[in-house]
Amino acid sequence: MPAPACGGAFIGLQAELYDDVVTHSRANSRPWRPITPGSTESQLLVDDREQGHVPFSVVELDGGTLVGNAVLWGIDTHSRSAHIGLAMRPSSRGKGYGTDVVAVLCHYGFVVRGLHRLQIETLSDNTAMLRSAERNGFVREGVLRSSAWVMGEFLDEVLLGLLAEDWKPDSKG
Ligand SMILES: CC(C)(COP(=O)(O)OP(=O)(O)OC[C@H]1O[C@@H](n2cnc3c(N)ncnc32)[C@H](O)[C@@H]1OP(=O)(O)O)[C@@H](O)C(=O)NCCC(=O)NCCS
Repeated sequence: MPAPACGGAFIGLQAELYDDVVTHSRANSRPWRPITPGSTESQLLVDDREQGHVPFSVVELDGGTLVGNAVLWGIDTHSRSAHIGLAMRPSSRGKGYGTDVVAVLCHYGFVVRGLHRLQIETLSDNTAMLRSAERNGFVREGVLRSSAWVMGEFLDEVLLGLLAEDWKPDSKG
């Protein structure tokens, strides 16, 4: 990664990540809404005009299979901070990719973009996301009580942060 998603691989990603209403609702602050097939409205498509929102495709180095997507969003060039988001296709979860993707986004945020702080918000029961973040040095800074409306109920989110000076590339401890 990163690489552009296209054709059938993109349709598969769209079907498994966006069209899965429960997964989308748990992983995104924006509400799920139907989109016209083939429209350019997909949240998974890259819009280079959006300076504060940098999406990546996640591909396997061996073979180039599209396994997920990731994004550095809410980039604030004054306070030099940004948020991280990611989602793997169901068959590609639990294989270490999430941890690797967070590492790559840290490198992109801190080294390529010169940011000072990265932040992740995730549901408090999302163990895989919490561990992927903590393995890269993110620390839990607080619980946002009932902050996420998810499929009919308010759920708590955990706020995790990592500062550039605390980041240890390749640590994954
Ligand atoms: C969250 C997500 C991106 C994590 O990526 P992943 O590739 O599955 O995570 P990894 O394989 O790198 O696993 C990271 C850690 O979580 C653990 N883990 C993975 N899946 C788990 C599960 N279902 N339950 C509990 N722990 C799990 C792993 O054992 C590993 O722990 P360790 O570091 O102590 O060994 C992925 O599961 C996903 O796409 N989920 C759906 C979308 C989503 O929730 N996105 C996050 C929105 S904020």
